[in-house]
Amino acid sequence: MAFPVVDTEYHKEIEKARRDLRALIAFNNCAPIMLRLAWHDAGTYDVNTKTGGPNGSIRNEEEKNPEMKKLKIRTIAIRNHDDVVELAGVVAVEVTGGPTIDFVPGRKDSDICPKEGRLPNATKGNTGAPHLKDIFYRMGLSGKDIVALSGGHTLGRAHLERSGFDGPWTNEPLKFDNSYFVELLKGESEGLLKLPTDIALMDDPEFREYVELYAKDEDAFFRDYAESHKKLSELGFDPS
Ligand code: HEM
Repeated sequence: MAFPVVDTEYHKEIEKARRDLRALIAFNNCAPIMLRLAWHDAGTYDVNTKTGGPNGSIRNEEEKNPEMKKLKIRTIAIRNHDDVVELAGVVAVEVTGGPTIDFVPGRKDSDICPKEGRLPNATKGNTGAPHLKDIFYRMGLSGKDIVALSGGHTLGRAHLERSGFDGPWTNEPLKFDNSYFVELLKGESEGLLKLPTDIALMDDPEFREYVELYAKDEDAFFRDYAESHKKLSELGFDPS
């Protein structure tokens, strides 16, 4: 059945889901994993073929993403799964002290999961910066977006059994701030992680300029992050 996706009633459902997600994320301390889920759904976008992107297809990979189950149970009233996934990413940043990200509902769901291999590979050491450019330019994003969005690693940690990497990027992994960039510029710190692709942000002169800016100016980071996150969450989505 076809229905207008974004009517008044739907807006109300979204606001209810937003409140529900705040509670869910605070109660389970799961902001990092929700942000990562939203990024993984959106980050498959290909601007040339207009495939992948934030369309909720990640819900079909429930086994790999058990947190999807929590979202499904709690926000069952929402017609459109991808709005829930992307809203969870926005709320995760907000409730951990990050910037407010403008959220426009109305994404179209798709059942088609893009092939594996569209997301960046953390082990691309020497070829890190060109690899990041290949992947993010394919999404239609910019160099500035790459650095700002990498700041998402201010939340959470890596798990040995999941990625082969271990540890958080910052000393307060449940707080969204600019400490990811501060730590990056400090170099090695006992107990903190730097992926080869994080280090690559220091090698490329354009990237490094933003790393230095964000490390010294948290407002600039918050402003650019909010803009880049909105772009990421709306890839291939025309809200008009
Ligand atoms: C975690 C790679 C970009 C958000 C991770 C992990 C890896 C990784 C290897 C650890 C997974 C685990 O072992 O649990 C990358 C690479 C990126 C990238 C190579 C390329 C730039 C992003 C972006 C965001 C993001 C753009 C969001 C804006 C996160 C979060 C976690 C994470 C929040 C922590 C999850 C948790 O605590 O369970 N990433 N990532 N990442 N990533 Fe990224």
